[in-house]
Amino acid sequence: MIKSLRGMNDILSEDYERFTYFINLATKVAQNYGFHFIETPLLEETALFKRSVGESSDIVGKEMYQFIDKGENDVCLRPEGTAGVVRAFVQKKLDKAGGIHRYFYHGSMFRYERPQKGRLRQFHQFGVESFGVDSVYEDATMIMMVADILKKCGIGYRLQLNSLGDQNCMPQYRDSLVTYIESVEDEICEDCQRRKTTNPIRVLDCKNTHCQSLYEKAPKLINSLCGACEEDFTKLKTILTDNGVEFEIDTNLVRGLDYYSKTAFEFVSDNIGSQSAIAGGGRYDRLVEFLDGRPTPAVGFAMGIERLMELIVMPKVKREGYYIGAMDSDAVDLVVKLTQDKRATEKVVCDYKAKNLKKHLNAADKVNAKYCCVIGENEKKDGTIWVKDLEAKSEEVILLKDF
Ligand code: HAM
Repeated sequence: MIKSLRGMNDILSEDYERFTYFINLATKVAQNYGFHFIETPLLEETALFKRSVGESSDIVGKEMYQFIDKGENDVCLRPEGTAGVVRAFVQKKLDKAGGIHRYFYHGSMFRYERPQKGRLRQFHQFGVESFGVDSVYEDATMIMMVADILKKCGIGYRLQLNSLGDQNCMPQYRDSLVTYIESVEDEICEDCQRRKTTNPIRVLDCKNTHCQSLYEKAPKLINSLCGACEEDFTKLKTILTDNGVEFEIDTNLVRGLDYYSKTAFEFVSDNIGSQSAIAGGGRYDRLVEFLDGRPTPAVGFAMGIERLMELIVMPKVKREGYYIGAMDSDAVDLVVKLTQDKRATEKVVCDYKAKNLKKHLNAADKVNAKYCCVIGENEKKDGTIWVKDLEAKSEEVILLKDF
């Protein structure tokens, strides 16, 4: 039997209900915040992710589904959604048009990671990207939007917050961090030794516990922010507090992608095991420019749908629509005709096989129909239909012209 690839899951039955429930709910919230839908291709030039997510990141360095296509182009399946949205934004010349542009998207992302609970090779994100607003109110709004979605899904969380500084304060901090790393270089893991030259900030995110204990004494970025970054970070904390969003500061939160500056945040859940990040995002004011656009401030986030599906509290399913069946094979044509007419306005499930009443009632119950409607020999003769309201438990025989 041919099976799906490791780390690539089917979404069906109960999972599908959770999946669509989440997409519909998050879409509604995004629209309430003034965001518009955007769809970008699954396949992009590899250079797009090298230049945005960064060659030193694990995502680009180790996890890309990359190949040469039949036209000799170096392409890869998108590992995340932000880079493609920025590319589309620049390609459409919206950077030159100016103004504010806000998008939301959802779809598959691909990362060749070691699969485990909550970590897939093909997974789904719901994300938003906002272009053209350099106010920290927009950063706060992004965070409040995630909090809003999670609250509507009945999901508890911890919000971790950090500031990654900007081009004024980050280089100085990086130098002081490198000096510190050199002082403990003999003790750090091989990955961190490599990171020291490729992207020193990334050592702070190392999963090795010995490295982590060494970095406790490392200089903290939060203490080296320039005036503007410090002011924004203070304001961000005030806005969140004023709006009842609790947070904790995590000075080691650097995120796994290179494009961030200033605000970085992650929402984590303590109820889904080690892969606990359920959403992440931040500001990326330089990325439009890195992808050949006019400098444009931007901020966004993405949520991992599979991880959220484990946590969503689903509303009680209400009975809905009609189930229509025949008790006599001669009545099947009529049942199909009635179904087609009714489907103009209602949800209708139709059974093409003649069955006894008990079997029809069971089938109607299974598809959660509100009404079970059946035509037998007598009903066909009389031009009527038997209808049972499965919620009120009442039944009646109706003339077909009144059905
Ligand atoms: P990210 O933190 O890499 O950010 O991914 C966002 C979310 O996707 C994570 O918090 C997690 O829930 C989910 N996720 C990531 N990898 C996996 C995996 N292998 N299996 C299952 N779920 C996963 C980004 O992708 C950025 N583009 C977010 C962003 C948008 N920043 C600004 N705008």
